[in-house]
Amino acid sequence: MSIDLSGYKKDFPIFERKVRGGNSLVYLDSGATSQKPDSVIEAESNFYRTINAAVHRGAHLLAEEASESYEAARSNVAKFIGAHDNEVVFTKSATESLNVIAYALGNPQSEVHIKSGDHIVVTEMEHHANLIPWQQLAKRTGAILSWLSFTEDGRIDLSNIDEIITTKTKLVAITHQSNVFGTILPIQEISKAAKAVGALVVLDACQSAPHFSIDVKELNVDFLVFSGHKALGPTGIGILWGKYELLEKLEPAIFGGSMVDSVTMQGATWSSAPRKFEAGVPNMAQAVGLSAAIDYLTNIGMDNISSHEHELTKKLLAGLSGISGVKVIGPLDLKDRGGVVSFTVEGVHPHDVGQVLDQYGIAVRTGHHCAWPLMRKLKLVGTTRASFHIYNDAHDIDRLLSGIEKVKSYFKVSK
Ligand code: ALA
Repeated sequence: MSIDLSGYKKDFPIFERKVRGGNSLVYLDSGATSQKPDSVIEAESNFYRTINAAVHRGAHLLAEEASESYEAARSNVAKFIGAHDNEVVFTKSATESLNVIAYALGNPQSEVHIKSGDHIVVTEMEHHANLIPWQQLAKRTGAILSWLSFTEDGRIDLSNIDEIITTKTKLVAITHQSNVFGTILPIQEISKAAKAVGALVVLDACQSAPHFSIDVKELNVDFLVFSGHKALGPTGIGILWGKYELLEKLEPAIFGGSMVDSVTMQGATWSSAPRKFEAGVPNMAQAVGLSAAIDYLTNIGMDNISSHEHELTKKLLAGLSGISGVKVIGPLDLKDRGGVVSFTVEGVHPHDVGQVLDQYGIAVRTGHHCAWPLMRKLKLVGTTRASFHIYNDAHDIDRLLSGIEKVKSYFKVSK
C-alpha cells in the first residue's frame, strides 16, 4: 500500500539550502551516503556539548555518562538487528569491519582461521570493500577465491551453487543488496548452502540495514557489517556484528588501550568481545549519533521505509521505461529489489549525465560504484545511479525524469 511519507524531508536541514542554478536539492545518492536528520546532528553535538569524556576510563561523572550513552548506543544497534549487546563491535566504517574480520580470520592464532587450500566464496557483484579484503586474505593464506556470478538482469546466479560452495568452502562473503543493481539476494538460501558444508557467512548489509528490517538470526549468518553514515547516522562509525562464540575465537586486529585484560613487558591478553575489538578511544559521539538515527528509523518503521522506497522505485522504473535510449542496469521488475536504480543513456557518458543533472539540482552517483568486476563483465564504463531514502518523494522522481530528457536534448541524442 502506498503511504505518504513525503513530510519527512523537513527533518533534514540540508534540504533548506539551494544548489546549482538556485534549484532546491533532489538528493538521489543515499547509496553513497545518506543525509542526516536534526535529531542525529543534535545527538552528536550534544555529546560534545554536555558529556564529552573518554569512555571506560576516568572516575568522573562525565566519563560515567559518556560510557552509559556509548553502551546504550550499542544496545540500540543490537536491538535493531536482533542481536545481543556483546556481539556488536563499533568500528569506524563498514570497510574497517570487513577488514577486521578478514585480518582476524587470516591470523593462525585465531581459533577459527582460513588455511592454505581453503575456498573463500564471494559474488561477482560485490562492492570492492567486500571483495578486496578477501582477495588479500586468500593471498596471505594460500586460500582460493571463487565466486557466484549474476544473471543478465542483475540477480545472483545460483544455478551452479553446488559447484562453487563445496566442502572446501570455509567462508562465504556476500552482499545483502547490490549497490549497483538494487537486487536483494536470497541470503537464507545461500546461508543454508554454506552451513551445509560448515562454512561461515559474512554479510555486507550496507545497502540493506538502512532500508529494511534485518534480523541476524533469521538471516542465519555469522557476521554482518553496515555503516552508520548510510543509515542517516554520522560518518566515522561502522558496525561489526558477529556471533559471540565466534568473536571470542578471533584474535583482534587492532591493538592498544582499553582492549586488554592484562599487559606485561612480554605480552598481553585480551578483554572479552566486543571490547577486544575496540582498541583506543572509540568514536563515541558518532555511536551516540547512530543510536539517534536508529531511533529515527524505527519510529517511522523499517517496513514503512521499505514500502516508501518500493513506491519510488516503481515510479522511477515506469518513468525510465518510457524514455528511449535509457537502459536500466538491474531488474525491471520489483521483486526482491531495493531503492537503487542504475541506468545508462545511450550515446552519453554517465559522468556527463551526472553533470547535466547536477545543473538542475539533481544529485546522483555516476561511475563504476566501487564494483569494477561487475562493470567489466557488463562491458560498461559505468552507470548513473539513483538511490533513495525516507526524504525522497514522487516530485524528486519527476525532476529526475525530466532531467534525463534534458540530458538527451543537451547531447542531441533525442529520438
Ligand atoms: N559504497 C558507496 C556507494 O555504493 C560509496 O556509492
